[in-house]
Amino acid sequence: MVVPGQQNQEEKVFYPPEDLRVDAHVPDFNSYLELYKKSIEEPEAFWREVAQEFYWKELPNGQLLQYNFDVTKEKVYVKFMEGAKTNICYNVLDHNVLTRNLGEKVAYHWEGNSPDLRLTITYSQLLKQVCRCANALKKLGVKKGDRVAIYLPMIPELVYSMLACARIGAVHSIVFAGFSSESLAERIMDAQCSILLTADGVYRGEKLINLKQIADEALEHCREKGLLTVQKCMVVKHHAFRINGNDTCNKLQTLWNAECDVWWDEAVDNASEECDPEWMDAEDPLFVLYTSGSTGKPKGVLHTIAGYLLYTSLTFKYVFDHHQDDVYWCTADIGWITGHSYITYGPLANGATSVLFEGIPVYPHVGRFWEIIEKYRVSKFYTAPTAIRLLMKYGIEPLQKYDLSSLRVLGTVGEPINPEAWMWYHDAVGQGRCPVVDTFWQTETGGHVLTPLPAATPLKPGSATLPFFGVLPIILNEHGEELEGEAEGYLVFKKPWPGIMRGVYGNQECFENTYFKKFPGFYVTGDGCRRDKDGYYWITGRIDDMLNVSGHLLSTAEVEAALTEHSAVAEAAVVSRPHIVKGECLYCFVTLKDFREFNHSLMDELKRKVREKIGPIATPDFIQNAPGLPKTRSGKIMRRVLRQIARNEKDLGDLSTLADPKVVEVLLSQRCEAAA
Ligand code: WT7
Repeated sequence: MVVPGQQNQEEKVFYPPEDLRVDAHVPDFNSYLELYKKSIEEPEAFWREVAQEFYWKELPNGQLLQYNFDVTKEKVYVKFMEGAKTNICYNVLDHNVLTRNLGEKVAYHWEGNSPDLRLTITYSQLLKQVCRCANALKKLGVKKGDRVAIYLPMIPELVYSMLACARIGAVHSIVFAGFSSESLAERIMDAQCSILLTADGVYRGEKLINLKQIADEALEHCREKGLLTVQKCMVVKHHAFRINGNDTCNKLQTLWNAECDVWWDEAVDNASEECDPEWMDAEDPLFVLYTSGSTGKPKGVLHTIAGYLLYTSLTFKYVFDHHQDDVYWCTADIGWITGHSYITYGPLANGATSVLFEGIPVYPHVGRFWEIIEKYRVSKFYTAPTAIRLLMKYGIEPLQKYDLSSLRVLGTVGEPINPEAWMWYHDAVGQGRCPVVDTFWQTETGGHVLTPLPAATPLKPGSATLPFFGVLPIILNEHGEELEGEAEGYLVFKKPWPGIMRGVYGNQECFENTYFKKFPGFYVTGDGCRRDKDGYYWITGRIDDMLNVSGHLLSTAEVEAALTEHSAVAEAAVVSRPHIVKGECLYCFVTLKDFREFNHSLMDELKRKVREKIGPIATPDFIQNAPGLPKTRSGKIMRRVLRQIARNEKDLGDLSTLADPKVVEVLLSQRCEAAA
């Protein structure tokens, strides 16, 4: 392979800065190629070496990686280091304190929603807090294998509780604290969680959110369905309400159910600081994390212990070129996979110092991110294209007020990054000195799968570049034929890597149907992709009925289901429309039942319905009255046509399969120009 970019002078290529290469783990392109070759040709030797960094109570017996991807042969499965015994919490905490002498090192600088709320947590303090919480959970009856639902904001207790679960062998199921009570209930029921952890409330920017009330409503939903498995609800008193005294507590009016509810303080503070880890099999479940499914029902993506540990640890080390004096900050919420892998497990496995930020980018001012980078001297920064585009709108003045000279590497994740945003990130935030690592991955992949390495990979704005170690990407055409060289088609993977999902919780059939059925022998990402002449990969976006709103996947089916729950709606069809900050937004077509009138108050009700069913991230931007939907003669909605109407495309292409062409004319004449 030649060095990318040298063939075509016109293409913009950015080469790694010299200063970064001096002590980088992968200092040049050839080193990347060599290591990559080894990871593919000798995977056993490659991963065995990585495993040596960690503590194993017992070593594995046979081959490390075992799998079947061919759904036509036998059941699909992946196993890594099966038979080995370890504990991931022990590895990311005790091992750092005892073996690597990092006890006094800061694990997290916690910065609350309000800039005056701060906490510094060292590795040994973190270990003690986790042990306390683990003992409290045990006392509440949690046992190895039990599922624990965690519905917490970005406070240290979120990290304590997930690691506490891992320590005692319980499976955490974290639900992003922006999800509605119905979404929370659905997830609790699916995994039959026995305990729920939440907080009394939280401020997001200026908005006060009564989390305990939402949690109570969720438990009520479970009860109504006859599926209440939760026995105890442990409630954290948020740090913001401790300092401000009682007035905000009163605002929350936290209701208390003495039979079920326990305060975190009462259960955890008196618990012992020591707790022996439960020695687990490498393939025991670590956590479930729900992601939108194209049928509308969220899928519980299951990850197991050893493979996830090794993969998040190694990707973190190489992709951010981690060094012991770094201060790393990932702005994601732990409620998403980005937070699981790159706020909790990956950084802790490397003994890193991270910023743990509870707030939002624009509160109390639009320079908050830059202020935090200056305050903690952040060197590695990881955020999403949607945040970059939001902050771009305010120009460079807010940036100029702060010293960003500590920055070395900038990362992005969540959706394809448009070249304008990439350039602004590189030039304005990174002052032209910092490589931008565009990391492509999914909840299902556990960690980065396509990504540059900052000191090794020449960058092309908008490309996630090349595969990480152990990952073998393939592009297929519609017929499932492998395409070589420059090509565009379905992005799939031929072989597993240690961090790939192990299943959909309690549903092998859904696992196989979703990821392995379309092209037997391959894991199907659901993304389209192009490979250029240098072998670089460019993600072109989803090719299923999923939408990516601000880096979060939603299925059109789940939003449609929420809309049709409203008594006025006969039918609904949801498509995506480009959005300047969110990337994509929801454009909804609704057909009303006879005699129902389409007006603003109905629109508000529909929006509220979606927020209640799913959460604020799914709030529609556009709702159009659709007296009829464009359908084929067999009754299938032609989403392509709806997408084109939503995007105001003039040429609607071939409409010959439409049952009633008039429907389209009506929709075109009533298009929404402005957001609802
Ligand atoms: C989907 C996965 C992985 C953490 C956040 C999202 C899209 C993600 C990129 C990127 C282009 C990207 C894909 C993918 N996506 N990162 N760097 N370039 N697209 O996790 O909710 O599981 O969503 O996000 O479409 O399939 P997720």
